[in-house]
Amino acid sequence: MEFRRIIEKRKSVRSFSGKPVARDTLDYILSAGSLAPTSRNRRPCTFHLIEDKETLWKLSCAKQAGAAFAADAAAAVVVAADSEKADTWIEDSSIALTYMMLAAEEQELGCCWVQLHLRFSADGRDAEANAREILGLPQNFRIVGFLALGYRKEEE
Ligand SMILES: Cc1cc2nc3c(=O)[nH]c(=O)nc-3n(C[C@H](O)[C@H](O)[C@H](O)COP(=O)(O)O)c2cc1C
Repeated sequence: MEFRRIIEKRKSVRSFSGKPVARDTLDYILSAGSLAPTSRNRRPCTFHLIEDKETLWKLSCAKQAGAAFAADAAAAVVVAADSEKADTWIEDSSIALTYMMLAAEEQELGCCWVQLHLRFSADGRDAEANAREILGLPQNFRIVGFLALGYRKEEE
């Protein structure tokens, strides 16, 4: 798909068909995230592909609002950046998330950015800390958010 068409067509998708996404397609999206530029080429971002339903559900509860639909996604990609490697972890993670959103659109998948940084869960806990706990990551890993991905519901 032509770049201009991708950015014109892309819309956030929060309703998924349940159709599985091929591993090659997910790898292609992850590789787009890895190709994103980072400040001073520090490359602080790590990419965590989640496909199991239980972890998707846990992520969907990591913050109070605007994440519930992630439980029905085919997959989620959490970007966790090592803040000890780069003080630009917000920018670096955001660019990687954006590259992956556009790659998902190119692959005719629906996706939506789920913000965790500066957000809280229903019990008042920090959403980033919740996601770190779910993924078993240390505190220096900072999480802007994740992408929930899948085929759009209306395609069924
Ligand atoms: C930084 C950022 C954070 C976002 N966080 C959420 C979120 O937590 N939950 C959600 O449902 N949508 C989230 N979105 C999606 C926006 O609501 C959406 O991009 C915006 O309303 C424009 O709609 P569009 O993506 O369909 O063009 C986020 C988007 C961005 C760029």
